[in-house]
Amino acid sequence: MSQTFQQLSTDELQAQLSDLRAQADAIRARGLALTMARGNPSPEQLELSKPLLDVLSSSSDLVTEGIDAGNYGAPDGLPAARRLMADILGVDPANLVVGGSSSLEIMNDVLNHCWIHGVCGHTPWSQQGTVKFLCPCPGYDRHFRATEYLGMVNVAIDMTPTGPDMDQVRELVENDPQVKGIWIVPKYANPTGVTLSDDTVRALARLRPAAPDFRIFYDNAYVVHDLGDEPDELLNIFDALAEADAPSLVYEFASTAKVTFPGSGIACVTASPADMADLRASIAVQRVCANKLVQLAHVRFLPDAAAVRAHMARHAAVVRPRFELVERKLSEGLGDTGLATWTHPRGGYFVCFYGPEGSAKAIVALCAELGVTLTPAGAPFPGGNDPHDAVIRIAPTFPSLEDLGAACDVLVLATRIVAAEQELARRA
Ligand SMILES: Cc1ncc(COP(=O)(O)O)c(C=O)c1O
Repeated sequence: MSQTFQQLSTDELQAQLSDLRAQADAIRARGLALTMARGNPSPEQLELSKPLLDVLSSSSDLVTEGIDAGNYGAPDGLPAARRLMADILGVDPANLVVGGSSSLEIMNDVLNHCWIHGVCGHTPWSQQGTVKFLCPCPGYDRHFRATEYLGMVNVAIDMTPTGPDMDQVRELVENDPQVKGIWIVPKYANPTGVTLSDDTVRALARLRPAAPDFRIFYDNAYVVHDLGDEPDELLNIFDALAEADAPSLVYEFASTAKVTFPGSGIACVTASPADMADLRASIAVQRVCANKLVQLAHVRFLPDAAAVRAHMARHAAVVRPRFELVERKLSEGLGDTGLATWTHPRGGYFVCFYGPEGSAKAIVALCAELGVTLTPAGAPFPGGNDPHDAVIRIAPTFPSLEDLGAACDVLVLATRIVAAEQELARRA
């Protein structure tokens, strides 16, 4: 094991820093333009779904189960599309609506429903004074922006390796009626990669909220996004709710955004029968029906959950080498330095990198200077405020392997430079 920065004399550390800066100058001169910021599928992944575009043509029969997909009707979505999403989530299709193409849009619609009309006849959230929403951190910045945008107060909750810190969650949810909701990404969370343990799922289901109009916004975005043969297993939240005799506590969302085409797939919401009746009242005013031609193409391309799993195995063959490369580059570059840790997810789209306290903004800025764009430091926290300024979200899927390797080398170098500068500043 090489010596850590703390073990080096100041002269030795200064010499190392000069050497690292010379490497940075060489990289700067190459004029790189790489990104590890976007949680987008790679072009190779999009190729996998191109045959979906051939499924429908002008000679296709658009009538399915007595419904003309080319016309108005079926406001809850095509039965086959509802069965497909229900099959993926392990829920009853009767309680599931397939809406447009974006689950985030449906989440915002549901938030608007709660805000403007209220949950199941309760006073609208907008008329209840301060409304708080719990945000397990690091988390998905677009979730936090959605609740902040409506004027809610986002409350940061610590993430643990088994999900949000349930002691913090329970304390707030069960004692403060201003707490109306919590964001949860139950499987391969963005960006930690954490999957809820069975205990955490059960603890969520057993919550007894002080507010009768509290709901868990359960965004199962990565439910089928396993990387290997030993995927994380997630207990079905609706089974846990049934056990806990608490049927109306969860709105669950999902989409095929990263199964087929982001922005051009199908998305859904499911909840208890009572909650769905409440949501359907809003949905019915919003639109006559969603894009059923897209739904039809999807169910002809991917008729059931087994077909989705086979398709996702092809995605995994493209994505897994990228995650393995990140792991190898970080281990080789930082493994024995004590400067950083990172997650080793078995699925999803992100690796979460934890640099030294107070370093993330500087590392991201230096990477940008060296031609590598990363998600802004702080983004996975409400208000963009990482209290330790340590977390960096790495999105390995989009770049080619070659670009990803080069980008990881830059991240390693930037981390070493910033850490060496910090250590020297401490000693000064
Ligand atoms: C946790 C999570 N939810 C939702 C989305 C967006 O999904 P959609 O394209 O269905 O709106 C993303 C995209 O990165 C995500 O990471």
